[in-house]
Amino acid sequence: MSKTCSAARRQTLTDALARRLRSSIRRGALAPGTRLPSSREYSQTLGLGRNTVTAAFDKLLQEGWLVARHGSGTYVASCLPEPLLRRGRGLQVEPAVPAFLPALSRRGVQIAAMDHPLTTAFAPGVPDVSEFPFGDWKDALQRASRRLMPRMLSYGQGGGLAALREALCEHLAVSRGVVCEPGDIIITGGTTDSLLLCATLFAEPGDGAVIEQPGYAQAATVLRSAGLNVGIAPVDEQGLDPTRIRGASPARLLYFTPCRQYPLGQALSPARRVALLDWAQRQSAALVEDDYDSEFGGVGTTRLPMRGAPDGESVVLLGSFSKIMFPGLRIAYAVMPHALAPQAQRVAARLFMAARPWEQLALAEFLHSGRLRQHLLRMRASLARKHAWFSQLWQQELGDAFPLEGDAGALHGVALLPPGLLDQPLVQRLREAGFAAEALSSMCLERPRRHGLVIGHGSLSMGELKRLGPRLVREIALGLRKPR
Ligand SMILES: Cc1ncc(COP(=O)(O)O)c(C=O)c1O
Repeated sequence: MSKTCSAARRQTLTDALARRLRSSIRRGALAPGTRLPSSREYSQTLGLGRNTVTAAFDKLLQEGWLVARHGSGTYVASCLPEPLLRRGRGLQVEPAVPAFLPALSRRGVQIAAMDHPLTTAFAPGVPDVSEFPFGDWKDALQRASRRLMPRMLSYGQGGGLAALREALCEHLAVSRGVVCEPGDIIITGGTTDSLLLCATLFAEPGDGAVIEQPGYAQAATVLRSAGLNVGIAPVDEQGLDPTRIRGASPARLLYFTPCRQYPLGQALSPARRVALLDWAQRQSAALVEDDYDSEFGGVGTTRLPMRGAPDGESVVLLGSFSKIMFPGLRIAYAVMPHALAPQAQRVAARLFMAARPWEQLALAEFLHSGRLRQHLLRMRASLARKHAWFSQLWQQELGDAFPLEGDAGALHGVALLPPGLLDQPLVQRLREAGFAAEALSSMCLERPRRHGLVIGHGSLSMGELKRLGPRLVREIALGLRKPR
């Protein structure tokens, strides 16, 4: 390259770097007083010549965007030259609005528009994290950090760490009556990931998937994101009814909550379990059962996963540590049918689904040491107390006309509204009062929608429940008297 050519090139790079730095300062990404890396470090990081970087710094020093402190380095100026420039010193302003934006998809727009309450008070599906023994968890993390090996930190942990899968196997056998092998388990970053994995494994885009109505709305969001058409299986007092499935043809996957129907709470009856297995076999469809919070208790074999039953080997079991530990952990799992596990493992690895290795190791130890079982026992007792207290308050204040259904092991209860009343205005009123109870109708994809309130008393500590419960109940009573 000729001398003039390389000088011109350096000038272009200098200008480009100066422009970027100026834009970062102007837009607040580099705040006044921020120390910049040295020109040597910058040139190494960006792969630019040191002279180019020094020239860009000099330019900005002259313009007043940067200041040099002798022996200390280069800083963003505390007093920026922007007001002067705005009065016409003539520097080019980076466009704040890009020349074009890619169009958002319909599903993207729909998901972005979904209700996302800022508070978690009375939100269903949210545990009271203040009860979690964080001291024990920090100890487990510390011990795990000593056992963390370089090989665990790279790619290739699809399916999760062996230590966690082994510990989970034992836990599932003891707590949930599910016998499986460590290789059948796939560790994921949440039920959402597990469900995406199932959608990828069992359905093509455009195929059908079925969820319960009412059901876990997030499941519909995930399945639609995977390009599936989501239909419904209406739920009655025996659980979902496979003879009334509609809107998903050909159905390749059915997501359901047999141990404690979400949100209504009943267990799937033995007869329906048989009918469902029959339906799945005829359709060659995957049954994906979500055991999201059943570990908080419940009596009888219908409160145990179908996967553990003699005829349940083909069922995929999903579980999560979001409720039995804390949602921010983002660790969940899928137990695959044994024969499909190796392929599921490879797909999970390809989609980079496994969760963080450090937390996985700590969790393995938390399970082995019996700490999780102790925590579960405490949570069960505490949930039962909250349920008893809140049910009594509800009964006193809202009476028989608007009963709250729910069992002592559930994080939430459901109150069906009398016919003719709509739940959305009531939920809106509660949102304005700072409560995150949900509308039952928002958990129904199709008409006829049921109307009611889904109220997560388990999201609060006993103290908070006693403080906020009476206010919530009063708001509901007022809202019922004065529908908007
Ligand atoms: C039915 C159901 N399944 C699973 C989950 C947990 O999902 P995740 O593991 O993504 O936190 C929830 C959380 O609200 C839920 O309500």
